[in-house]
Amino acid sequence: MILPVYVFGHPILRKAAGEIDKDFNNLKQFIEYMFETMSESDGIGLAAPQVGKSVRIFIVDATSLEDKDPSLKNFKKVFINPIIMERTGEITPFNEGCLSIPGIREDISRESEIRITYYDTDFNFYDELYNGVPSRIIQHEYDHLDGILFTDRVAPLKKRLLKNKLSGISKGKFDVDYKTVLPGKIKVFRPQPS
Ligand code: NI
Repeated sequence: MILPVYVFGHPILRKAAGEIDKDFNNLKQFIEYMFETMSESDGIGLAAPQVGKSVRIFIVDATSLEDKDPSLKNFKKVFINPIIMERTGEITPFNEGCLSIPGIREDISRESEIRITYYDTDFNFYDELYNGVPSRIIQHEYDHLDGILFTDRVAPLKKRLLKNKLSGISKGKFDVDYKTVLPGKIKVFRPQPS
């Protein structure tokens, strides 16, 4: 099932997401929906708050780019309750975009290397190191779980220039071919009069 993507300005993108446990309802099915949604919208990463669930899960799949970057081979994963334990290495810019912020791409500076702990869908525990593009993708998605968006990380001057564009996005001024949810759009169920 393809889920709609919540866009900039929606409060769910600003909430710190909650941890989940093994009893989380239909976990594997939800993650399957996340993968379907990400692939439909040509994303390489997607965090649960972007599809309206404020829980600490994100997924990545950058295997489509492995021809260009061998470090992305097999980089298709689920991260549950992740914790970035360390960020090290050189701080370098990398061009980022986000399904929740259509039409905007910016160079964002981040550390090149991370150590992260997380669980997979069977709640096996991992403690791993990442660098290069995988590390960048993980850091971007991880931010979503804390209510942080990549546009928060641009320089103040750039931020001022982006302000109008961002407010336009929150009002629906963008063009994408995937389903979205705008801020303030509350789904109301109205029974049909008989
Ligand atoms: Ni994003």
